[in-house]
Amino acid sequence: MTAPGSDVAVVSAAARLRGDLRLPGDKSISHRALLLAALATGESRIASAGDGADVRSTAGIVRALGAIVERTRDDGRTVDYRVVSPGADGLHAPAATLDCGNSGTSLRLTSGVLAGLPFTSTLDGDDSLRGRPVARIIEPLRRMGAALNARQNDSLPPLTVTGRSPLAAIDYATPVPSAQVKSAVLLAGLRADGRTTITESIATRDHTERMLRARGVPVEREGGPDGPVSWTVRGGLAVQAIDERVPGDVSAAAFWLVAGSIHPDAELVLHDVGVNPTRRAVIDLLRRMGADIDERPAGAVDDGVGEPLADLVVRSAPLHGTDIGPADVAAAIDEIPVLCLAAAVADGTTTIRGAGELRHKESDRIAGIATGLAALGASVEVDGDDLRIVGGARLRGAATDSLDDHRLAMTFAIAGLIADGDTSIERPGSAAISYPGFFDDLERVRA
Ligand code: S3P
Repeated sequence: MTAPGSDVAVVSAAARLRGDLRLPGDKSISHRALLLAALATGESRIASAGDGADVRSTAGIVRALGAIVERTRDDGRTVDYRVVSPGADGLHAPAATLDCGNSGTSLRLTSGVLAGLPFTSTLDGDDSLRGRPVARIIEPLRRMGAALNARQNDSLPPLTVTGRSPLAAIDYATPVPSAQVKSAVLLAGLRADGRTTITESIATRDHTERMLRARGVPVEREGGPDGPVSWTVRGGLAVQAIDERVPGDVSAAAFWLVAGSIHPDAELVLHDVGVNPTRRAVIDLLRRMGADIDERPAGAVDDGVGEPLADLVVRSAPLHGTDIGPADVAAAIDEIPVLCLAAAVADGTTTIRGAGELRHKESDRIAGIATGLAALGASVEVDGDDLRIVGGARLRGAATDSLDDHRLAMTFAIAGLIADGDTSIERPGSAAISYPGFFDDLERVRA
C-alpha cells in the first residue's frame, strides 16, 4: 500500500485478516465531553478521546472561548485532555473566526453553546463544511432568542451567532432526525428561562442526554422507542466538571466488522467498543445479514455516564441481503456507506430506504458510494433517496475517489482487502478525520 499521506493509497487483496484492535475514542462523545467541560467550572479530565481532526477542531474552539485545554497523553489515535474552564459565564468572545474544519458536529453543537453566551462569534470550516445545511439549527436557536445569520439566505456556513442570556425556553419538534440538532437545542436549553423540550420523530444517539445527567443536569425522556421521543432540560442548572473515559468508536469498529464478515479468512477482535443502544445498529444490522459477531460485555465506563462497552469478535460469514428502512438509516447514519459494501457482496438484494440525509454529510455519500462501488464491480441503483444493491458481486480492484470524505476513504480501503487486484483510493488522508491510524491498522490486520 502507498502511504496515506500521498494523494492516492493503493490497497491489495489480503490473504487473511487477523488481529486485535483498539479503536480511537468515540468522536461524538469526545466532542460533547470537550464542550461540556467548557460549560463546567473547574477541571475536567477526558481520557481516551478520539484524536481525529474533527475532535481537534472542537478542542481548538473550546480553547478560543477561554478554557485551558491541555493534551496530557496521546498515542496517535486517542488523547487525554485536561480542561480547566471558568464556566459558561466566564467564557469570552473568540479573537478570530472559530474554525470547525471538516466537522459538522463541531459547528452545530457549538452553535447551541454560543446561543446562550452574550457575545458574537462566527463559525466556519473547509469547503465541505461550507456546503452543509445550517437552517436546521438556525430555526430553533432563533426561536430561543439568539441571532444567527449564515450565507445564502441563512442556509450555509459561515454562521454568525450572537447569543443571549437567558434564552427563551421552547418546545420544538425537529423536522430532521439529527442528534446534532437535538444536542444544539439541549445545550442552548441549559441557558434558557424554563423548560426546553425537543421532540424527534425517530430516536437518534443519546450521548448528550447521558452526559448531561452524569454532570448533574436531569434530562427527562418521554415516548419512544418506536414513536416520537421528547427530551426536556431545565435551564439555569450548573453543569458539573467530571472526569470521563471515552469508549472506542463503534463507527470506526464498523469498518472492521464488515471487513471481518466479508473476507473469507478473517478473525478480528475489537476491544472496548461503545455499544450504546442508540449507536449499535450496525452490529445488529450485520447480524441480521448473517454476520458472526460475538459480543463480550466489558462493563460500562465507570463515571456515571453509563456508556456500555463490549469486546467484539468478528469472523468470516456468508452474508445475505436485508431491508434497511428510515429508522435503521437514522440509527446507523455513519455506517451506511460500509454497510453498502457488505450488501454488495452479500447474497441477494439489499434495499435502503429514506437515506436522503446521507447527501448532506462530508460529501454526497449516496453518489460517492454508488460511484465507487460500481467502479469495483458492484450493482448499485439509486432512486431518489433510496438505494437498491444487488449482491453477489465479485469485486475487482479499481480506481475509487473518497471525495475527501473519511467514511468513503475507509469503505473503499476495506473493499480493497477483498477485491481482486489493486484498489486505489484518491485522497485517503481524510480517514484521519475520525480514525487516525486507520491505514496502519489495515496493514497490521493483513499480517
Ligand atoms: C453526530 C450526529 C450525526 C452523525 C455525525 C455525528 C453527533 O449527524 O452523522 O457523524 O455526534 O451528534 P446528524 O445529527 O447530522 O445526523
